[in-house]
Amino acid sequence: MNRSPEAQAQFERLLPEAIAAARAAWCPHSDFPVGAALLTLDEHIIRGCNVENVSYGLTNCAERSALFSAIAQGHAPASFKAMLVYAPKVALIAPCGACRQVMHELMSAGCPVYCVGHDATAARDWTVEQLLPGAFGF
Ligand code: THU
Repeated sequence: MNRSPEAQAQFERLLPEAIAAARAAWCPHSDFPVGAALLTLDEHIIRGCNVENVSYGLTNCAERSALFSAIAQGHAPASFKAMLVYAPKVALIAPCGACRQVMHELMSAGCPVYCVGHDATAARDWTVEQLLPGAFGF
């Protein structure tokens, strides 16, 4: 993976946080834990995990949990440097469409989203814009 030194430093800082977040996942229905770690401009790290419900449609993904938590804690939209998403049961995790739309609203277009599964060599770095080009908005 060809990362800038700054991106590599963010990655190494966020990975253990996302792994810890995944351990907190409530996922009895899918048995598919996901963790997210969000780095704020003022250097806070906000964790998120997936939180499922027996009424399946109520499930919240790790990425949205992290973003909603950050907003609830007073961090402004677009005040984020990077997000890392980790899911141990796939080689590479790709954020779902709903999370991509929420990222588009709350994160800057160029903000990196580091995506990692159990295969470190398959990890991908995307930007918010790359994840949802031509996103809906008004
Ligand atoms: N999930 C996430 O938390 N993030 C993703 O990027 C993809 C899917 C969750 C939702 C659900 O709890 C489980 O993974 C299986 O879809």
